[in-house]
Amino acid sequence: MAKHHVYGIDLGSYEIKVYDLEKDNIWTEKNVVAVDSSGALLAVGDHAFAMYEKTPPDIEVVFPMHEGVISDFQHIQDLLQYLLDAGSTFAAGGEYTIAVPADVTELEKRAFFDLLVHSSAKARSVKVIERGVADAIGLGLDVQRSDGVFVANFGGETLELSVIAAGGLVFNQRLPIGGRVMDRLIVERVRHHYNFLIGLTTAEKLRMKVGIKDDRSGRTVKIAGRDLLYGVPTVKQIPASLVRASLKDLLEQCVEAIMSLIERTPPEIHRIILNDGIYVAGGLARMTGLPQYINRATGLHVHTSRKPEMCSVRGLEQIVKLEELNELAYSMEEDTERWA
Ligand SMILES: Nc1ncnc2c1ncn2[C@@H]1O[C@H](COP(=O)(O)OP(=O)(O)O)[C@@H](O)[C@H]1O
Ligand SMILES: [Mg+2]
Repeated sequence: MAKHHVYGIDLGSYEIKVYDLEKDNIWTEKNVVAVDSSGALLAVGDHAFAMYEKTPPDIEVVFPMHEGVISDFQHIQDLLQYLLDAGSTFAAGGEYTIAVPADVTELEKRAFFDLLVHSSAKARSVKVIERGVADAIGLGLDVQRSDGVFVANFGGETLELSVIAAGGLVFNQRLPIGGRVMDRLIVERVRHHYNFLIGLTTAEKLRMKVGIKDDRSGRTVKIAGRDLLYGVPTVKQIPASLVRASLKDLLEQCVEAIMSLIERTPPEIHRIILNDGIYVAGGLARMTGLPQYINRATGLHVHTSRKPEMCSVRGLEQIVKLEELNELAYSMEEDTERWA
């Protein structure tokens, strides 16, 4: 019999990241599809993302996940099917271990299972692991022997907070705060202060470029958009500090959520977290100044990795590779009645 295909999947609202055991590699694709008015698939993944905000009105660019969970089953299934047909990465009938977000309902978890079992992936088995646990492993922590680890995953649409002890989850929480929300706030502030309309893609580029470092130099950056007074496309100079100003309240909310979850932990775990600090994963952890901001606002050490967005999938890699970590993931069984 052919060797089983074994995959670790991190299905994010922004990007899908997959570890393929057979090939021993990781590939990523933006979690996006482009469809025309008849619903036909025009592009998927990175290609579809590149079309975002650039398409004519009869083409729609869809993000099939919302705040960490599957919101558009049909389109995410199409996306998976397309990647399957492309043939280069997926193979049907594999064994999957999937990272599930913090704080999901059974129904939302079941949607991940259904996607892998009842779509063209036709998974033979599906195991589930909490993303926070996968992140901690991806960050190189010995989760099974740690008595208190705090992980914050700053992703595309969510902030996931997890407290882990002895390989298991003690608490977790998911907040609808992520890169996309930040980009909307930047768009709003630019419109309000400059009567200037920019797209979410421009806001994201700006956010990636300047970050949230406390910048009092008066430095400005050039951005393209549409002047709302004259209705014409043009470029404008805006202060780099606008990004930090737009995100001020949201960042304070992040810190508040982190602190209040830490406060809820039992004394023994609490002591360890205050001593060791917190671990930060997710693509947003790359944003210039974010780890430093959290450090200053919480007074805690903030540890991260060079590629924070890859922590979950790196953790999944270890989980599918190593037997002693494998047991941290649990099987999801088929709910036969629903599909009879
Ligand atoms: N260098 C960077 N600076 C700021 N934000 C970044 C940077 N790199 C990635 N991001 C942001 O990280 C988010 C995606 O993180 P990721 O963990 O891959 O998302 P998810 O797992 O939720 O799909 C996006 O909002 C993106 O804008
Ligand atoms: Mg992520």
